[in-house]
Amino acid sequence: MSTKKYLSVFSPANAEQRKANFEDYWVFTQQHGGELFEDDRDLGIKRARLKHFQDNPVKLKTPLANPDAFYRNYVEIKDDLKTLDQKTLLLTGMYKFARHEWVGIKGAWDSVPDMANSHSIEDKISRVHLAEEFCHVRLFDEMLKTCGLDKVEWVPLGPIKEKIYEQFPKFPGFLMDTPAFVTELMGVTFYCHLSNKINELFADEPEVRTRLQELLAEITIDEVAHVGQRRNFIGSIGMKVSKMLVKPFYTLFFNDIPEVGELFDVKQMIKDGEEFDFNQLPDYMIEKSWIPSYCRA
Ligand SMILES: [Fe+2]
Ligand SMILES: [Fe+2]
Repeated sequence: MSTKKYLSVFSPANAEQRKANFEDYWVFTQQHGGELFEDDRDLGIKRARLKHFQDNPVKLKTPLANPDAFYRNYVEIKDDLKTLDQKTLLLTGMYKFARHEWVGIKGAWDSVPDMANSHSIEDKISRVHLAEEFCHVRLFDEMLKTCGLDKVEWVPLGPIKEKIYEQFPKFPGFLMDTPAFVTELMGVTFYCHLSNKINELFADEPEVRTRLQELLAEITIDEVAHVGQRRNFIGSIGMKVSKMLVKPFYTLFFNDIPEVGELFDVKQMIKDGEEFDFNQLPDYMIEKSWIPSYCRA
Protein backbone atom coordinates (compact mmCIF):
# COMPACT_ATOMS: atom_id res chain seq x y z
CA MET A 1 0.00 0.00 0.00
CA SER A 2 1.50 3.27 -1.04
CA THR A 3 0.18 6.52 0.31
CA LYS A 4 1.41 9.14 -2.08
CA LYS A 5 2.28 12.50 -0.57
CA TYR A 6 1.78 14.45 -3.76
CA LEU A 7 -0.62 14.48 -6.68
CA SER A 8 -0.05 14.86 -10.41
CA VAL A 9 1.30 18.25 -11.44
CA PHE A 10 -1.60 18.30 -13.90
CA SER A 11 -4.13 18.28 -11.03
CA PRO A 12 -6.88 20.87 -11.45
CA ALA A 13 -7.05 24.13 -9.48
CA ASN A 14 -9.63 26.91 -9.39
CA ALA A 15 -8.93 30.62 -9.71
CA GLU A 16 -9.11 31.20 -5.97
CA GLN A 17 -6.58 28.46 -5.23
CA ARG A 18 -4.25 29.80 -7.87
CA LYS A 19 -4.41 33.32 -6.45
CA ALA A 20 -3.56 32.04 -2.96
CA ASN A 21 -0.72 29.95 -4.40
CA PHE A 22 0.83 32.93 -6.19
CA GLU A 23 0.88 34.77 -2.87
CA ASP A 24 2.44 31.80 -1.16
CA TYR A 25 5.04 31.38 -3.91
CA TRP A 26 5.99 35.05 -3.72
CA VAL A 27 6.79 34.69 -0.02
CA PHE A 28 8.74 31.49 -0.73
CA THR A 29 10.80 32.86 -3.61
CA GLN A 30 11.98 35.95 -1.73
CA GLN A 31 13.24 33.83 1.17
CA HIS A 32 14.71 31.25 -1.18
CA GLY A 33 16.76 33.50 -3.47
CA GLY A 34 17.44 36.47 -1.21
CA GLU A 35 18.04 40.00 -2.44
CA LEU A 36 17.59 40.65 -6.17
CA PHE A 37 20.57 42.36 -7.81
CA GLU A 38 18.88 43.46 -10.98
CA ASP A 39 21.95 44.99 -12.67
CA ASP A 40 23.81 41.70 -12.25
CA ARG A 41 20.78 39.49 -12.98
CA ASP A 42 21.65 37.76 -9.71
CA LEU A 43 20.26 36.88 -6.27
CA GLY A 44 21.98 37.24 -2.88
CA ILE A 45 21.63 33.72 -1.50
CA LYS A 46 22.38 32.08 -4.85
CA ARG A 47 25.45 34.24 -5.30
CA ALA A 48 26.77 33.23 -1.88
CA ARG A 49 26.15 29.55 -2.69
CA LEU A 50 28.08 29.78 -5.93
CA LYS A 51 30.93 31.60 -4.20
CA HIS A 52 31.12 28.80 -1.64
CA PHE A 53 31.60 26.28 -4.46
CA GLN A 54 34.13 28.48 -6.27
CA ASP A 55 36.13 29.05 -3.07
CA ASN A 56 36.26 25.31 -2.41
CA PRO A 57 36.93 23.85 -5.83
CA VAL A 58 37.03 20.12 -6.53
CA LYS A 59 38.97 18.77 -9.49
CA LEU A 60 39.13 15.52 -11.42
CA LYS A 61 41.92 13.17 -10.25
CA THR A 62 42.20 11.93 -13.82
CA PRO A 63 41.60 14.81 -16.25
CA LEU A 64 39.19 14.30 -19.14
CA ALA A 65 40.76 12.06 -21.77
CA ASN A 66 40.33 14.58 -24.56
CA PRO A 67 39.23 18.12 -23.65
CA ASP A 68 39.76 19.16 -27.28
CA ALA A 69 36.96 16.79 -28.24
CA PHE A 70 34.69 18.71 -25.86
CA TYR A 71 35.64 22.10 -27.25
CA ARG A 72 35.28 20.88 -30.83
CA ASN A 73 31.75 19.53 -30.28
CA TYR A 74 30.11 21.50 -27.50
CA VAL A 75 28.39 24.15 -29.58
CA GLU A 76 27.69 21.86 -32.49
CA ILE A 77 28.52 18.19 -32.95
CA LYS A 78 31.35 17.90 -35.48
CA ASP A 79 32.63 14.37 -34.80
CA ASP A 80 30.87 11.04 -35.09
CA LEU A 81 29.08 10.61 -31.74
CA LYS A 82 30.30 7.02 -31.48
CA THR A 83 33.92 8.19 -31.35
CA LEU A 84 33.33 10.37 -28.27
CA ASP A 85 33.72 9.05 -24.73
CA GLN A 86 30.66 9.06 -22.47
CA LYS A 87 31.85 11.81 -20.11
CA THR A 88 32.48 14.17 -23.01
CA LEU A 89 29.09 13.37 -24.51
CA LEU A 90 27.39 14.01 -21.19
CA LEU A 91 29.09 17.39 -20.82
CA THR A 92 28.48 18.60 -24.38
CA GLY A 93 24.83 17.51 -24.07
CA MET A 94 24.46 19.30 -20.75
CA TYR A 95 25.99 22.46 -22.20
CA LYS A 96 23.57 22.42 -25.13
CA PHE A 97 20.57 22.05 -22.84
CA ALA A 98 21.78 24.91 -20.62
CA ARG A 99 22.57 27.05 -23.65
CA HIS A 100 18.97 26.91 -24.83
CA GLU A 101 17.86 27.98 -21.39
CA TRP A 102 20.36 30.84 -21.41
CA VAL A 103 19.21 32.09 -24.82
CA GLY A 104 15.57 31.97 -23.71
CA ILE A 105 16.12 33.97 -20.53
CA LYS A 106 18.39 36.51 -22.18
CA GLY A 107 15.62 37.39 -24.60
CA ALA A 108 12.98 37.41 -21.86
CA TRP A 109 14.97 39.54 -19.40
CA ASP A 110 14.94 42.52 -21.77
CA SER A 111 11.32 42.21 -22.77
CA VAL A 112 9.53 41.75 -19.39
CA PRO A 113 9.09 44.63 -16.89
CA ASP A 114 11.91 45.15 -14.39
CA MET A 115 11.11 45.02 -10.68
CA ALA A 116 10.38 48.75 -10.41
CA ASN A 117 7.78 48.37 -13.16
CA SER A 118 6.35 45.07 -11.94
CA HIS A 119 3.01 45.86 -10.36
CA SER A 120 1.31 42.48 -10.18
CA ILE A 121 2.54 39.63 -8.04
CA GLU A 122 2.86 37.52 -11.22
CA ASP A 123 5.22 40.09 -12.78
CA LYS A 124 7.37 40.20 -9.64
CA ILE A 125 7.52 36.41 -9.51
CA SER A 126 8.54 36.29 -13.17
CA ARG A 127 11.35 38.79 -12.62
CA VAL A 128 12.88 36.78 -9.79
CA HIS A 129 12.31 33.58 -11.76
CA LEU A 130 14.46 34.93 -14.60
CA ALA A 131 17.22 36.01 -12.21
CA GLU A 132 17.24 32.43 -10.86
CA GLU A 133 17.67 31.10 -14.38
CA PHE A 134 20.76 33.27 -14.85
CA CYS A 135 22.12 31.73 -11.64
CA HIS A 136 21.58 28.29 -13.20
CA VAL A 137 23.80 29.14 -16.15
CA ARG A 138 26.55 30.12 -13.66
CA LEU A 139 26.06 26.84 -11.83
CA PHE A 140 26.29 24.86 -15.09
CA ASP A 141 29.45 26.79 -15.90
CA GLU A 142 30.85 25.75 -12.51
CA MET A 143 29.95 22.11 -13.25
CA LEU A 144 32.00 22.32 -16.46
CA LYS A 145 34.89 24.02 -14.61
CA THR A 146 34.80 21.18 -12.06
CA CYS A 147 35.54 18.88 -14.99
CA GLY A 148 38.50 21.05 -16.00
CA LEU A 149 36.62 22.88 -18.75
CA ASP A 150 37.36 26.52 -17.95
CA LYS A 151 37.32 27.93 -21.49
CA VAL A 152 33.62 27.42 -22.18
CA GLU A 153 31.85 30.29 -23.90
CA TRP A 154 28.12 30.88 -23.86
CA VAL A 155 27.46 31.24 -27.55
CA PRO A 156 24.27 32.94 -28.79
CA LEU A 157 22.05 31.15 -31.31
CA GLY A 158 21.74 32.62 -34.80
CA PRO A 159 20.02 36.06 -35.05
CA ILE A 160 16.68 34.60 -36.22
CA LYS A 161 16.40 32.10 -33.39
CA GLU A 162 17.45 34.78 -30.89
CA LYS A 163 14.67 37.04 -32.18
CA ILE A 164 12.08 34.28 -31.78
CA TYR A 165 13.15 33.74 -28.17
CA GLU A 166 12.86 37.50 -27.56
CA GLN A 167 9.30 37.60 -28.86
CA PHE A 168 8.10 34.59 -26.88
CA PRO A 169 7.52 36.31 -23.50
CA LYS A 170 5.46 39.03 -25.20
CA PHE A 171 2.87 36.49 -26.33
CA PRO A 172 -0.47 36.64 -24.53
CA GLY A 173 -0.76 34.30 -21.53
CA PHE A 174 -3.10 31.78 -23.13
CA LEU A 175 -0.46 31.06 -25.79
CA MET A 176 2.66 31.40 -23.67
CA ASP A 177 1.73 29.79 -20.35
CA THR A 178 1.40 26.17 -21.47
CA PRO A 179 4.74 25.93 -23.35
CA ALA A 180 6.45 27.85 -20.53
CA PHE A 181 5.16 25.29 -18.02
CA VAL A 182 6.07 22.28 -20.16
CA THR A 183 9.58 23.71 -20.65
CA GLU A 184 10.11 23.88 -16.87
CA LEU A 185 8.78 20.35 -16.52
CA MET A 186 11.19 19.21 -19.21
CA GLY A 187 14.00 20.80 -17.19
CA VAL A 188 13.17 18.79 -14.07
CA THR A 189 12.82 15.58 -16.06
CA PHE A 190 16.15 16.12 -17.77
CA TYR A 191 17.97 17.03 -14.54
CA CYS A 192 16.70 13.87 -12.81
CA HIS A 193 18.01 11.72 -15.66
CA LEU A 194 21.21 13.76 -15.78
CA SER A 195 21.74 13.16 -12.08
CA ASN A 196 21.52 9.38 -12.57
CA LYS A 197 23.96 9.56 -15.47
CA ILE A 198 26.44 11.60 -13.44
CA ASN A 199 26.38 8.91 -10.74
CA GLU A 200 27.03 6.27 -13.34
CA LEU A 201 29.74 8.00 -15.38
CA PHE A 202 31.62 9.64 -12.51
CA ALA A 203 31.66 6.59 -10.22
CA ASP A 204 35.46 6.59 -10.66
CA GLU A 205 35.67 10.20 -9.40
CA PRO A 206 33.65 10.26 -6.16
CA GLU A 207 34.60 13.82 -5.11
CA VAL A 208 33.75 15.32 -8.46
CA ARG A 209 30.60 13.24 -8.62
CA THR A 210 29.47 14.65 -5.26
CA ARG A 211 30.27 18.21 -6.30
CA LEU A 212 28.44 17.86 -9.62
CA GLN A 213 25.43 16.52 -7.74
CA GLU A 214 25.53 19.45 -5.29
CA LEU A 215 25.63 21.96 -8.12
CA LEU A 216 22.88 20.18 -10.04
CA ALA A 217 20.71 19.96 -6.91
CA GLU A 218 20.91 23.75 -6.51
CA ILE A 219 19.44 24.04 -10.00
CA THR A 220 16.90 21.24 -9.66
CA ILE A 221 15.42 22.58 -6.40
CA ASP A 222 14.65 25.90 -8.16
CA GLU A 223 13.36 24.11 -11.22
CA VAL A 224 10.92 22.01 -9.18
CA ALA A 225 9.54 25.24 -7.71
CA HIS A 226 9.31 26.73 -11.22
CA VAL A 227 7.25 23.75 -12.36
CA GLY A 228 4.63 24.43 -9.69
CA GLN A 229 4.78 28.16 -10.20
CA ARG A 230 4.33 27.97 -13.98
CA ARG A 231 1.60 25.37 -13.55
CA ASN A 232 -0.18 27.90 -11.32
CA PHE A 233 -0.63 30.26 -14.29
CA ILE A 234 -2.82 27.71 -16.07
CA GLY A 235 -6.55 27.01 -15.97
CA SER A 236 -8.34 23.74 -16.64
CA ILE A 237 -8.26 23.76 -20.47
CA GLY A 238 -4.64 24.84 -20.50
CA MET A 239 -3.79 21.93 -18.21
CA LYS A 240 -5.17 19.42 -20.72
CA VAL A 241 -3.26 21.17 -23.50
CA SER A 242 -0.07 21.07 -21.41
CA LYS A 243 -0.27 17.33 -20.91
CA MET A 244 -0.72 16.85 -24.65
CA LEU A 245 2.29 19.07 -25.31
CA VAL A 246 4.72 16.98 -23.23
CA LYS A 247 5.43 14.41 -25.93
CA PRO A 248 5.82 16.73 -28.95
CA PHE A 249 7.79 19.26 -26.92
CA TYR A 250 10.24 16.80 -25.38
CA THR A 251 10.64 15.05 -28.74
CA LEU A 252 11.31 18.24 -30.66
CA PHE A 253 13.68 19.69 -28.10
CA PHE A 254 15.73 16.56 -27.48
CA ASN A 255 15.96 15.79 -31.21
CA ASP A 256 17.90 19.02 -31.45
CA ILE A 257 20.55 17.67 -29.03
CA PRO A 258 21.96 14.47 -30.54
CA GLU A 259 23.83 13.58 -27.32
CA VAL A 260 20.54 13.17 -25.49
CA GLY A 261 19.33 10.37 -27.76
CA GLU A 262 22.72 8.69 -27.40
CA LEU A 263 22.90 8.76 -23.58
CA PHE A 264 19.32 9.01 -22.34
CA ASP A 265 16.04 7.18 -22.71
CA VAL A 266 13.87 9.87 -24.28
CA LYS A 267 10.75 7.65 -24.19
CA GLN A 268 11.18 7.24 -20.45
CA MET A 269 11.67 10.99 -20.04
CA ILE A 270 8.39 11.63 -21.86
CA LYS A 271 6.66 9.12 -19.61
CA ASP A 272 8.19 10.74 -16.52
CA GLY A 273 6.96 14.13 -17.71
CA GLU A 274 3.42 12.97 -18.31
CA GLU A 275 3.30 11.19 -14.94
CA PHE A 276 5.15 13.82 -12.93
CA ASP A 277 3.87 14.15 -9.36
CA PHE A 278 6.85 15.23 -7.17
CA ASN A 279 6.94 11.87 -5.32
CA GLN A 280 10.16 10.70 -6.98
CA LEU A 281 12.17 13.65 -5.70
CA PRO A 282 14.38 13.24 -2.62
CA ASP A 283 13.00 14.75 0.62
CA TYR A 284 15.87 17.23 1.01
CA MET A 285 14.95 18.78 -2.34
CA ILE A 286 11.24 18.94 -1.57
CA GLU A 287 11.97 20.65 1.75
CA LYS A 288 13.88 23.44 0.03
CA SER A 289 11.51 23.75 -2.92
CA TRP A 290 7.88 24.74 -3.44
CA ILE A 291 4.83 22.68 -4.40
CA PRO A 292 1.33 24.08 -5.08
CA SER A 293 -1.17 23.34 -2.29
CA TYR A 294 -3.47 21.51 -4.72
CA CYS A 295 -0.70 19.06 -5.64
CA ARG A 296 -0.44 17.87 -2.04
CA ALA A 297 -2.43 14.74 -1.21
FE1 LIG B 1 16.65 26.73 -14.99
FE1 LIG C 1 13.25 27.18 -14.53
